[in-house]
Amino acid sequence: MQTDAGAAYLHGANSMEQARLLRRTAASSAAFLLPQLQPGWELLDCGCGVGSITCDFAKVVAPGHAFGLDTQGAQIERARRLAVERGAQNVNFDIGSVYDLPYPDGKFDAVFANTLFQHLKEPGRALAEIRRVLKSGGLVAIADDDHGTVLWEPRTPALTEALSLIARVIAHNGGDVYRARHHPRLLLEAGFVRVTATATLGTGGVWGSPEETRLFAAWFADQLRAAASEELMIGQGWTDAESLKAIVGDVLAWGERPDAFFAVVGVAATGWLD
Ligand SMILES: C[S@@+](CC[C@H](N)C(=O)[O-])C[C@H]1O[C@@H](n2cnc3c(N)ncnc32)[C@H](O)[C@@H]1O
Repeated sequence: MQTDAGAAYLHGANSMEQARLLRRTAASSAAFLLPQLQPGWELLDCGCGVGSITCDFAKVVAPGHAFGLDTQGAQIERARRLAVERGAQNVNFDIGSVYDLPYPDGKFDAVFANTLFQHLKEPGRALAEIRRVLKSGGLVAIADDDHGTVLWEPRTPALTEALSLIARVIAHNGGDVYRARHHPRLLLEAGFVRVTATATLGTGGVWGSPEETRLFAAWFADQLRAAASEELMIGQGWTDAESLKAIVGDVLAWGERPDAFFAVVGVAATGWLD
């Protein structure tokens, strides 16, 4: 999947992916940040997806404003509809890339990015651009899941292979599913101060009920089958059509198991501009 900015991005923006992201809230994905936000702030949510977290932020920073930005037009369209559905007046959604933010220097009090940085080829460049749009004394917060923490049971060989294939697609696109553990260092290297980190479940999440594991398996199978992923995985010789079909079947069967459970821990890091 090509984003509007031309960079390869795994997850796309189909209805299944949008449904997965719509479950996210500021309470579930930004609990570590909410106590630090203040009414009247201008906040930017980079890689906002369908905007469910952004719309929650808008309530917290009112009478300030929340801005959501994403490369994919389909996500921004959905986010704009969500804002209307929720009657959010102080939220604005723009198509654009974190590498080239369409905002003036020093506009924002806080910039947030949830599950964006693991997909980026140049995280340092993205942080430099985020610095540019932050006011002095501004706050940055980035969070991603780290695949070193995946707890997925029952763990059949096919399921392990499925996870490894997805990690390879992300790496091929320039991302890193193990980047999250380096978030504090990335913020320090970008010149942020008073950097702290915590663990979060608001990135990949916890899928533990029968409805949740079925939903997760359907989404994961869809991701494996997505035309661009399948073409890349087979083209690179990481798998073949028959094996991939078997892996997808195994993932879907896993989702039906009453003992299925999936969880992944994320790392959330915050830092300040002096
Ligand atoms: C996994 S989704 C997360 C969405 C949202 N932050 C959330 O947690 O619900 C990552 C989003 O980042 C967007 N994205 C990817 N590369 C981007 C870039 N260079 N600049 C801005 N957004 C980007 C994708 O289009 C996608 O919507």
